[in-house]
Amino acid sequence: MITNNIQHIVETLKKGDIVGIPTETVYGLGANGLDEKAVQKIFRVKGRPNKNPLILHTHSIKELKKLVKHIPPIAKKLADNYWPGPLTILFDKSELVSDLITAGSKKVAIRIPSHPLFLEILKSVDFPIAAPSANPYQRISPTTAQQVHEYFQDKVPYVLEGGKCECGLESTIVGIENNKVIIYRLGGITMESLKKVHPNVELAPKDNTKVVTSGMDLKHYAPTTKLIIVDNINLFKKNHPELNIGVLTFEHHNNRLIAKEFYYQLYQLDQQNFDVIICKKFKNMGIGKALNDKLQRASYSEGAS
Ligand code: TXA
Ligand code: MG
Repeated sequence: MITNNIQHIVETLKKGDIVGIPTETVYGLGANGLDEKAVQKIFRVKGRPNKNPLILHTHSIKELKKLVKHIPPIAKKLADNYWPGPLTILFDKSELVSDLITAGSKKVAIRIPSHPLFLEILKSVDFPIAAPSANPYQRISPTTAQQVHEYFQDKVPYVLEGGKCECGLESTIVGIENNKVIIYRLGGITMESLKKVHPNVELAPKDNTKVVTSGMDLKHYAPTTKLIIVDNINLFKKNHPELNIGVLTFEHHNNRLIAKEFYYQLYQLDQQNFDVIICKKFKNMGIGKALNDKLQRASYSEGAS
């Protein structure tokens, strides 16, 4: 059920159960990150394969230090600039972090979120919180408590009401290699912004056969309705009079505001039994790059059902 009572959430976490938690990016499905049984519940309820690692959330650099071997200077600079906020950084994991969290990798993904309710929860418990986005595997990430409830019903005892997510896209995930910042997933922090903090920034190559993060899977974040990227909405409609078409458009021209609405509108359209949903690409700069990336993956249809 959806609750406004943060104590329900804290107690449920302490008992080793899972909860829906608002973050500034998307809602998360949270559990005690040091309790393997609780973490297993996340994988089970989400239907996510164990080979996909989870992000740990914490509230301070002091807590971070317990979870990592060391903090490289570039990571420290990024943390100082973006935390609390929508940036996830890969670190060498400490002994405290289980292989279940990292899917056997020596790297652990960590972020300090900025949503005030999530920070309050993190400060009320003495463990990091593991939380993937609160959607069934490969479905659209939720940006409202209601969506989380619709996805999981009684399988998640409590979802904390925290309003619509400010950012609306997942965190940007980066790693540090040979003095370079490598972007593994585009999200709330743009490449342009990262470059101002550390000029040497690269996108992980697309043809990278080894998928490092699930956000790099070709099919991801998909609606159940077929999504087609079009150049001209009116022309597509004219050429397909036989189709019942849902159009994904936004009132705003500001890509930040579009990002906040993107998953939400896609989810709403997906409920309406259209034959197809169509959308134009966004201007490919700033947060528009992340939006185009999500659009591309959501529209990938080969082998999808
Ligand atoms: O904004 C966000 O990051 C949200 C909120 C809830 O914090 N969380 C989120 O988690 O998007 P999830 O699990 O849906 O996506 C996390 C991504 C996955 O693609 C996963 O493969 C990658 O992070 N990841 C996690 N740990 C990793 C690791 N140790 N090495 C490489 N990739 C990792
Ligand atoms: Mg996800």
